[in-house]
Amino acid sequence: MAKKLLAVLLAGMMTFSLAACGGNNAASDAAAPAQEAAPAPAAEEAAPAAEEAAPAEEAAPAEEAAPAEEAAPAAAGQKVGVSMPTKDLQRWNQDGANMEKELKEAGYEVDLQYASNDVQTQLSQVENMISSGCSVLVIAAIEGSSLGEALDMAKEANIPVIAYDRLIMDSDAVSYYATFDNYKVGVVQGTYVKESLDLDNAAGPFNIEFTAGDPGDNNAGFFFNGAYDVLKPYIDEGKLVVKSGQTKFEDVATPTWGTDVAQARAENILSSFYADGTDLDVWLCSNDSTAMGVENALAANYTGKYPIITGQDCDIENTKNMIAGKQSMSVFKDTRTLASQVVKMVGQILTGATVDVNDTETYNNNVITVPSFLCEPVFADANNYKEILIDSGYYTEDQLK
Ligand code: GAL
Repeated sequence: MAKKLLAVLLAGMMTFSLAACGGNNAASDAAAPAQEAAPAPAAEEAAPAAEEAAPAEEAAPAEEAAPAEEAAPAAAGQKVGVSMPTKDLQRWNQDGANMEKELKEAGYEVDLQYASNDVQTQLSQVENMISSGCSVLVIAAIEGSSLGEALDMAKEANIPVIAYDRLIMDSDAVSYYATFDNYKVGVVQGTYVKESLDLDNAAGPFNIEFTAGDPGDNNAGFFFNGAYDVLKPYIDEGKLVVKSGQTKFEDVATPTWGTDVAQARAENILSSFYADGTDLDVWLCSNDSTAMGVENALAANYTGKYPIITGQDCDIENTKNMIAGKQSMSVFKDTRTLASQVVKMVGQILTGATVDVNDTETYNNNVITVPSFLCEPVFADANNYKEILIDSGYYTEDQLK
C-alpha cells in the first residue's frame, strides 16, 4: 500500500518533471536567425523574438527554427567553453557529450574539457577557455570554491558563467545556475526508505547507516539534508538506529564521491558493528558511485539480511544492480534535460533575452544568490527503469545486460 502511494507520488513528480523541463530548444533555435542578422548592437532587438519563442513550442515553426546550416553562421564565431569535472563518473561523460552535441547542433563552436577531478587542471582549462575567446562558460566545478582566479578573469572579460549542476561558491562572477532540485533528490531517497519500511506503522527498530557525498560539492549537503530531514523524526524516536553513531554530514561524507572511499568506510562500519549477525536494514547513499562502494563492501563483508540501498544518477552499473536486486532505487537526473536547458540559457544570454530561471532564493554562494533553473529529479527502481531509461532512449537494453 505504502509502495503504491509512493509510486503515485513519484509518478506525479515525473510528469511534472517532463513538463517542467521539456528542454525544448525553441529559444536558442529561434534566436539563431535573429542573431545572424544582428551582431552586437541589434542583439537586444533579437531578444523579444527569443522570448516569445521560448514558452510556445508550437509557435516556432520549423522554418523559423532555422535549419542547421542557417543556424550555424548565426552562432559561428561564438565559442562556448564546457568544463566538466571528471570522466571517472559515468554521468559527467554523458553531460559533456550531450552539451557538446546540442551546442554544435545550435551552431556553436564547443571547447569541452574534463579535469580528471584535479582542481588545478580545471582552473587552467577554464583560463584557457577564457583566453581562447569563449563567449560563455559552462562549468561543473570539482570543488565549488576553488575557481576564484579563473572567475575573476571571466568577469574582467565580461564572459558570463553558468554553473552546471554544481554551484560555484564564493564568487559574484556566476551569472546563472542550472541544476536539478538537489534537496528534493534527498527527500525522494528519504521518503523511499520511510515508505519501504512503513516507518509510521511498523514497530522497528531498524538499523540504518548513511553515506553522503563530497564536502567540496555544494550539492552534497542538500542531498544529505533532504534525506535526513525525512528520517530524523524516526531516528529521534529510536525507530531508526544508527549503530555507528555517524549521523553528521562531516562524518558520513565521501571526498571525491569515490567508490573506493565509500567502500573503505563501509567495510569499517560493517566489521565494527555488523559482524556479529546484526542485520542492517538500510544504507542511505547519496549517489550511485558511493552506493557502489557500499554494495562492494556488503558483497565482501556481510552475510546478513540485504539492506535497502538508495542511490542517484542511474549509472549503468548501478541500474544493473537494481535489476539484480542489489540496489533498491536511484534518482534519475536526465542529463539530456539539463543540457537542453543550459543550451537554451546560452542562447538567451547571447541574444540578450530573458534567461529562464525558476528559483531566485535557494542558491546563495556566500556572495550572491544565483538565479537558478531547477529541473525535477525522477524516482527510478527496478519496476520503472524500462520506461524511464530504455523507452526514453537514454540507454539501450543491451547496455543494461
Ligand atoms: C553531484 C551531482 C550528482 C552526482 C555527484 C557525483 O554534484 O549532482 O548527480 O553525480 O555529483 O559526481
